[in-house]
Amino acid sequence: MTGSDTIAALATARGESALAVVRLSGPLAVGVVASRFTNARLAEAPSHTAHVGWVTDARGQKLDQAVVYSGHGVVDVSDEVVLLLMHVLSLDFEQLNDRVDSAVSKQQVEQALTLMHKRITTRQPMAYVLGTSVFAGLSFTVDERVLVPRSPFVQLIDQAFQPWVNMSQVRQVLDLCTGSGCIGLAIAHYFDHCRVTLSDLSSDALAVAAVNQKALNLTARSQCVQSDLFDDLSGEYDLIVTNPPYVSEHEYQQLPEEFSHEPKMALVTERGGLEIPVRILSQAVDYLTDHGHLLLEVGFYDQALADAFPQVPFVWVDFGFEADEAGDGQGICVFTRSDLLRFKPHFDEFLNHVS
Ligand SMILES: C[S@@+](CC[C@H](N)C(=O)[O-])C[C@H]1O[C@@H](n2cnc3c(N)ncnc32)[C@H](O)[C@@H]1O
Repeated sequence: MTGSDTIAALATARGESALAVVRLSGPLAVGVVASRFTNARLAEAPSHTAHVGWVTDARGQKLDQAVVYSGHGVVDVSDEVVLLLMHVLSLDFEQLNDRVDSAVSKQQVEQALTLMHKRITTRQPMAYVLGTSVFAGLSFTVDERVLVPRSPFVQLIDQAFQPWVNMSQVRQVLDLCTGSGCIGLAIAHYFDHCRVTLSDLSSDALAVAAVNQKALNLTARSQCVQSDLFDDLSGEYDLIVTNPPYVSEHEYQQLPEEFSHEPKMALVTERGGLEIPVRILSQAVDYLTDHGHLLLEVGFYDQALADAFPQVPFVWVDFGFEADEAGDGQGICVFTRSDLLRFKPHFDEFLNHVS
């Protein structure tokens, strides 16, 4: 694998299903799988498979009836059912697709129903119920110490950060505000010439990132560092990626119950959701190599950020589609080191202004 290959190339080369799983959150792929399950010959199946038939046949209807919110790395409840089945049947996305007619044990049926019940009654996102989440075709352990992975960075990784960054020239990467480590570890996995620093203020989050680091066999090329943004970091990075907290307190109060299971510090920041993003914009310049880039995710706060800095010509990653229906914004802005230096006075002025 070279740094310029995409995940799609990797998936094809290895004959694996990474691509399909990467696109699990795409409505099309999952819709297709879910309806294949719906149309499976369940009516003809022996009675002990009927319960799984209920889970799948309803395409998550039971979840719909319970008015759960699906937006944590999935598009709708059909996706949740697919994830649940992958987990209970220990199958990946492709295998699941291929084995719609396979027999299912009574024990597996019971397990699926128990997990479904937990999802409905606790309103935990499905990823927490299962203790795992898929990001960039990789499996990550997740629990309430970390945000459920759902960043559009997955698409940038899939396209090798083209056309913004030449990954073949990137050696040192910083994943600031790493949470489960999903973004940084996916980069380390797919670009094996890179070394990645995973940094977070939360020691709880870093404990989860360390579990994922080991599980993915990436301890040799990644390290976990506890730091309040850049305070305890040193060195220079060719690429800084970050999905920091960017939700205002006001919006946080309106969010569906599922979000209350995520760490509040992973979501909320002062100054209407802009404090931490602007601190990063102000400080990153000191931690980038001359030709380095900062890629900062602010989701639906892209307009708020642009409005706060009318003098700054923000460059937004074009994902080729509108922000998804699940409510996760797609706003990732790209800065070169020289632009960060140029606009630093504006970022500093914003931060010095008493709110
Ligand atoms: C939106 S979550 C992103 C997690 C992960 N990168 C992802 O995409 O799933 C933001 C993360 O920032 C961390 N965080 C919050 N304030 C921080 C700070 N001042 N310095 C470093 N990390 C911080 C939180 O603990 C949380 O893990």
